[in-house]
Amino acid sequence: MAFQNLEIVHVVAMDQQRCIGKGNDLPWHISADLQHFKAITQGGVVVMGRKTLESMGRTLPKRVNWVITRDRNWSFEGTKVAYSIDEALTQAVADVASSEKPTSLFIIGGGEIFKQTIGIADRLELTHVELDVQGDAHYPEIPADFQKVASEQHIDDKTGIAFEFATYRK
Ligand SMILES: NC(=O)c1ccc[n+]([C@@H]2O[C@H](COP(=O)([O-])OP(=O)(O)OC[C@H]3O[C@@H](n4cnc5c(N)ncnc54)[C@H](OP(=O)(O)O)[C@@H]3O)[C@@H](O)[C@H]2O)c1
Repeated sequence: MAFQNLEIVHVVAMDQQRCIGKGNDLPWHISADLQHFKAITQGGVVVMGRKTLESMGRTLPKRVNWVITRDRNWSFEGTKVAYSIDEALTQAVADVASSEKPTSLFIIGGGEIFKQTIGIADRLELTHVELDVQGDAHYPEIPADFQKVASEQHIDDKTGIAFEFATYRK
């Protein structure tokens, strides 16, 4: 763990090839997964890359939104901006401590940010979507020192897509 008493959590949905995005958008719409994401992160602090914020087009309500960019001129109403991963994590710690989820920092994408933080993640909240969407943003390989500690299988009523909510810990 990079910071004392702070659990770094990845929250992400991926397909069978670990694809998480296509054309700077989510490749699927599974409302139960959006609810799952909300339940995990609401009241807490989320950290994301600039492209993920722009793909959502809005900040996430009831969460402190930290965005990472290299562009010193970039801004978006309602976000806090950091210019490196280290800066984002260091500064977000104070927000985490005063949030409703005071021990967890939620990293929510996208591919570039997951790749650079998988080495410091303590818990992974992964939704495995039973699709192969051939997109352009990917989650890194799950390191061997993570083990799946919880799993729930579902099928989306509307689309028939099968998916699994899985928790991994070191
Ligand atoms: N399925 C899911 O759960 C999920 C979750 C999130 C996102 N997504 C998808 O993932 C895709 C976006 O992912 P992505 O990999 O293309 O982009 P991203 O990780 O969201 O953002 C990349 C941007 O972050 C900034 N950045 C990255 N590393 C940095 C560093 N070390 N220091 C400073 N800034 C840094 C840069 O911004 P600047 O260019 O401004 O400098 C870079 O262009 C979209 O398709 C989105 O829908 C899926």
